[in-house]
Amino acid sequence: MKLAQRVGRIQPSATLATAARAKALVAQGIDVIDFGLGEPDFDTPDPIKDAAIDAIRAGFTKYTAPSGTDELKQAIIRRLEADQGLRYQPNEIVVSCGAKHTLYNLAQALFEQGDEVIIPAPYWVSYPDQVVLNDATPVIVPTQAEDGYTLDPRRLESAITPRTKALILNSPSNPTGAGYARAQLERIAEVALRHRLLVISDEIYGQIVYDGFRHVSIASLSPEMKALTVVVDGVSKTYAMTGWRIGWAAGPAALMTAVANIQSQSTSNPASISQKAAVAALNGPRASIDRMVAEFAARRNEMVRRLSAMPGVSCFQPQGAFYAFPDVSSCYGRHHNATAVTGSQSLTTYLIEEARIAVVAGAAFGDDRCIRLSYATSLDHIRRGLDRMDAALAKLKK
Ligand SMILES: Cc1ncc(COP(=O)(O)O)c(C=O)c1O
Repeated sequence: MKLAQRVGRIQPSATLATAARAKALVAQGIDVIDFGLGEPDFDTPDPIKDAAIDAIRAGFTKYTAPSGTDELKQAIIRRLEADQGLRYQPNEIVVSCGAKHTLYNLAQALFEQGDEVIIPAPYWVSYPDQVVLNDATPVIVPTQAEDGYTLDPRRLESAITPRTKALILNSPSNPTGAGYARAQLERIAEVALRHRLLVISDEIYGQIVYDGFRHVSIASLSPEMKALTVVVDGVSKTYAMTGWRIGWAAGPAALMTAVANIQSQSTSNPASISQKAAVAALNGPRASIDRMVAEFAARRNEMVRRLSAMPGVSCFQPQGAFYAFPDVSSCYGRHHNATAVTGSQSLTTYLIEEARIAVVAGAAFGDDRCIRLSYATSLDHIRRGLDRMDAALAKLKK
């Protein structure tokens, strides 16, 4: 069978590959501590589940409008206004099967051969592959831990060419946990406005923030910037609803109509039952989010403290999301017995084989100096897993 050329241009998602390796070891009865996964370990709150059960019982089990129900769009509109002061109309919202699907639909609607898409690194694994799948070229602009892993506006400006179609911004970020402060966004917005650059703003971790950090949407800076921005969000992370598959975009009506048309010819509507559950999530009280974020904050503190105490490891302090992204490059060029550690991928393999902990190689996120550890796992796992990591790193010799 001859597959389409585009298939050969992409990789399977690296985060899912790590999870599969961890699962295979666990199936053999091996105790693996999993820091690989990007989903809250909390259960979906009961009122949200109840709304879904009620929807099934009430027979809300049929097709809905392809771009989502009006009820859910209204709930999204209310949240965007309450959280960011952003005002949208229903024809400026499209609900899809998770934010990953939303981003893919946007790539389909916007990108084609010859287009360039600016992606700051470290980046979420799917951004470059989604660009490539749509025949466009990712233009990677590195950011540094010393700069808080935020995009330098001058570097952004020098990456812009006549072919540039969009910038994909992610705050707070997966994998670094870095969040952009309002002043930093203002400088990015100034460049975007000058070049009429569309910003795809992935805000899926916007509610998961620490130490009083407040997530600001770049769209909220001015009406002109709102007109140049597509806000992407979803229920997966905020409400521990990864399996329900609801995400959305809010943006200019013409683009949203194109996205809705694409969706109407591919998946049609996201699951009707999940849409009802998402309405309950968005309209419900914040208490479950606050509890989850408080727990994540305690875990973040423990994880960053322990990682930073390991010889040669330095760890950026995340302002949001639930990942630590330590620089472990001082371990490269070392070995234990026959195993040589040459970069983030071989260190990841070493850690799963020697320490029985699953992490994700920074190379998958565009930064080979680092590895990503998710702290969406218990404090007990964090303590035991990092003990093992510490011991395994100490065995590496020059
Ligand atoms: C930065 C970022 N964007 C989007 C997504 C997609 O989330 P979902 O498709 O579950 O809504 C993820 C999930 O890991 C993510 O980390």
